[in-house]
Amino acid sequence: MIKSKMFRWIEVNSYEQMSEIAAAIFTEQLAKKPDSVLGLATGGSPLGFYKEMVRRHQAGELSFARAVTFNLDEYVGKGPGDATSYHEFMHQNLFRHIDLPETARHLPNGLAEDLAAECERYEKLIEASGGIDLQLLGIGVNGHIGFNEPGSRFDSRTRVIELTEATRKSNARFFEKEEDIPAKAITMGIGTIMSARKIVLLAFGDNKTEAVKRLENGAVTEEFPASILRKHPHVTVIYGK
Ligand code: GLP
Repeated sequence: MIKSKMFRWIEVNSYEQMSEIAAAIFTEQLAKKPDSVLGLATGGSPLGFYKEMVRRHQAGELSFARAVTFNLDEYVGKGPGDATSYHEFMHQNLFRHIDLPETARHLPNGLAEDLAAECERYEKLIEASGGIDLQLLGIGVNGHIGFNEPGSRFDSRTRVIELTEATRKSNARFFEKEEDIPAKAITMGIGTIMSARKIVLLAFGDNKTEAVKRLENGAVTEEFPASILRKHPHVTVIYGK
């Protein structure tokens, strides 16, 4: 059997168009396989996508009733109820508006006492779910995916990672004071992300142009984590400015 490889680049003119195309891809996934395992992301890039998914759900166009979700990451020391946690981001922007059962929503527990055990638990849970069918990604200006900072091993799995200054700075907009920005996070590893059957990456705006260029033409190197996606069998990059 010939293994087909697909790397699709979709250039868009607006953030809304990017969000709509991504929503169409996820809607199609859920239509074909209602019990899909979806990998979800946080940040500014997927906000419009979530809004569109909620709209489609409210219009009766799609249901998450049989789906399962796994988020990429969570800050160490943060959890539900904390406005700057990724738990809360997901609750406010997606979960509270849709019919995804509470027991089917998964994020790493940044409040776990034993963080190493939590990382192992999360990785095993993904595996036990049958693996991620469709993973959503953003991209950091330094090429990070999830919170896999430059230098992350391509075969890494869910683990605790120290955030770089660059990442803390670009996420500062979500926090009131600089000292509130967490120093560490739990993130799915690059190996975990690469195990997803399909991947959709969103990148919009002038500050992402360099990263998109590097993703397209740069070397495949652990110094630019997203570059490994070029070795993945099924990726769609939706980008624009
Ligand atoms: C954050 C998240 C990533 C996200 C990236 C880009 O640090 N951990 O999952 O893709 O940074 O964020 P944004 O979409 O806000 O530019």
